[in-house]
Amino acid sequence: MTDDAPWQSSISEVSANQIFVRGYDIAELIEKISFSDAIYLVLRGNLPDAKSSELFRAILVSCIDHGVTPPSVLATRTVMSAGNSLNTAVAAGIMAIGDVHGGAIEQSARILQEVARKEGDPHSLAISLVRDLRANTQRMPGFGHQLHTSDPRTIKLLELAKRLGLYGKHAMLAEEIEKIFAGDGKNPLPLNIDGAIAAVTSDLGFDWQLGKAFFMLSRIGGLVAHAYEEKTTQKPIRKLGDFNTIYTGPPHRTIGD
Ligand SMILES: CC(C)(COP(=O)(O)OP(=O)(O)OC[C@H]1O[C@@H](n2cnc3c(N)ncnc32)[C@H](O)[C@@H]1OP(=O)(O)O)[C@@H](O)C(=O)NCCC(=O)NCCS
Repeated sequence: MTDDAPWQSSISEVSANQIFVRGYDIAELIEKISFSDAIYLVLRGNLPDAKSSELFRAILVSCIDHGVTPPSVLATRTVMSAGNSLNTAVAAGIMAIGDVHGGAIEQSARILQEVARKEGDPHSLAISLVRDLRANTQRMPGFGHQLHTSDPRTIKLLELAKRLGLYGKHAMLAEEIEKIFAGDGKNPLPLNIDGAIAAVTSDLGFDWQLGKAFFMLSRIGGLVAHAYEEKTTQKPIRKLGDFNTIYTGPPHRTIGD
């Protein structure tokens, strides 16, 4: 394609007074589909069947909020407290999503998808994966939590996937890995919400490269609420944390010492 060639996109077609998304008239979508189905449509190109629609809706509800302490919420509230706009504060929260917070979905799904492609049953595949990770002193993304020993969101998503007949090889693998960690006795490492979303979205056929999107799309609702609450109920630059700092730098000195 040359530099002056027209842009190409398969997502929407827009002309004067007309908007089509993935081939559907926006007016029909507004009237007939849920927000989560609309997200599924733009990401996948087609509408989900009834069971996938129900599981995808549940995924997007699962991360809506988790209190004030996650890094994304602290970032949102701190930036809002400094007198910024709603979109700036929410963008700061989105930027705080990382490989350990919300973003573990991506690498967890990548690993689960790579392993699920191999020949073998989930139990044996999980054993060799954990052995390889340990040999390289690597953590398995999507496992462990600072607070929950049994994450209620994980339990509900997996239960729903089973009930809907959408519990596949990736979810089986994730639960086998959890059993191996639990069997150690030392540190049980529960399947956390990132790992559960990685597993069920992989079973739904999503590319692992979209992993962070699911957390982002869900948590943005909570971030907007936190930004708004900060702005409307708190003083600007309020004391957002414990400022009793222990100084660990050099003693007072002068240039030339
Ligand atoms: C979420 C997380 C930061 C919580 O950590 P934590 O409860 O404070 O635990 P620590 O980082 O102190 O680790 C404690 C032990 O468990 C091990 N561990 C923790 N998470 C692990 C994982 N995902 N895979 C393998 N081992 C893990 C650590 O290596 C450490 O072992 P050691 O005692 O032999 O050194 C951590 O479990 C993690 O890094 N998980 C992977 C990233 C992830 O899934 N993030 C999404 C969270 S919702």
